[in-house]
Amino acid sequence: MIATETISIQKTKNSRLSEVDFNNLSFGSIISDHMLVSDYANGEWGPSKIVPFGHISISPTMLALHYGQVVFEGMKAFKLKDGNISIFRVEKHYDRFCKSMERMCIPHMSFEHFDEALKALVKLDAAWVPANEGCSLYLRPFVFASEERFGVKVADEYKFIIFGGPVGPYYSAPLKVKVEDRYIRAAHGGTGFAKCSGNYGGAFYPTSLARKEGFDQVIWTDGSPELNMEESGTMNVMFLLNNILVTPPISDSILDGVTRDSFITLAKEMGYKVEERKVSAKELIAGFENGTFKEAFGTGTAAVVAPIQTISIKGTNYKLPEVKDDNVSLKIKQRLLEIRMGLKPDTNKWNTIVKP
Ligand SMILES: Cc1ncc(COP(=O)(O)O)c(C=O)c1O
Repeated sequence: MIATETISIQKTKNSRLSEVDFNNLSFGSIISDHMLVSDYANGEWGPSKIVPFGHISISPTMLALHYGQVVFEGMKAFKLKDGNISIFRVEKHYDRFCKSMERMCIPHMSFEHFDEALKALVKLDAAWVPANEGCSLYLRPFVFASEERFGVKVADEYKFIIFGGPVGPYYSAPLKVKVEDRYIRAAHGGTGFAKCSGNYGGAFYPTSLARKEGFDQVIWTDGSPELNMEESGTMNVMFLLNNILVTPPISDSILDGVTRDSFITLAKEMGYKVEERKVSAKELIAGFENGTFKEAFGTGTAAVVAPIQTISIKGTNYKLPEVKDDNVSLKIKQRLLEIRMGLKPDTNKWNTIVKP
């Protein structure tokens, strides 16, 4: 086990904190003062060290650049009313990180290593956690093959880094999405369930084509003639059909979203009926036509909830009712927000508290 005391800390002499406008946070451009780094070599993970955030030096032969052994997580830390910080669902993110690493042949990391690293970085950069509602410190733990050698092989050396940055709300306007019927994101037996970087690179091209057609995102399907829904961009998808919250089941081609899991738990607690099952394009069209399809939305750490307004299926645009404050998605989002900000009891023990 690695204790916090063993994480060496080199503090920055030039904090950038005063340059940040916390009332105007865009997503993904501002990075906090420090990052945590740990190296894997000779069959084990070495101690973590925290250093000022900055560039790293790599060789053009670094294996990750060529063969794609890169996995990452996206998580959030929130400022609580009492001044403490809570990191949301560390265990669930860690479990997924481990599954992604295993699929990409990256050596296992202990929970203590991951957990202590996150807590130490968040504690040091506590002043970077925004207090405004809907804002948080986004955390990006990732690991990549750092060995320098260009022959195809599983790397023997890796680098684990965590950095973070303050973020505001991600998506705002209701989305117009297209059910993608030509390209697929993942196939059974592939890497769809892993948060590995190649999945994202592969999704860019079809998404950029959809954007040119005027859509915000695509909904990926399983590639079957039924066009069963899978997920969308960096979000899982949920549909309110016949007053039941329906979401595609987790499989080896869908990312096991932490927000998805939290939504399912909260929806059930709030008395909604939830079904994890296949949802076909045909079922959605029928729901549009007979008026039983009321809401569609994406769930993800970045966006939390992104309401979907229009869904295009095989060239026809179907419009959902206007998004309103009393939408089921927004009610569950509000409950989640309150738990993460410490305003409602954390009965599911999702918050890891860090005292600054
Ligand atoms: C492909 C994909 N699906 C779904 C999600 C939603 O997962 P989570 O709720 O854990 O952020 C993400 C974001 O991490 C993603 O990248």
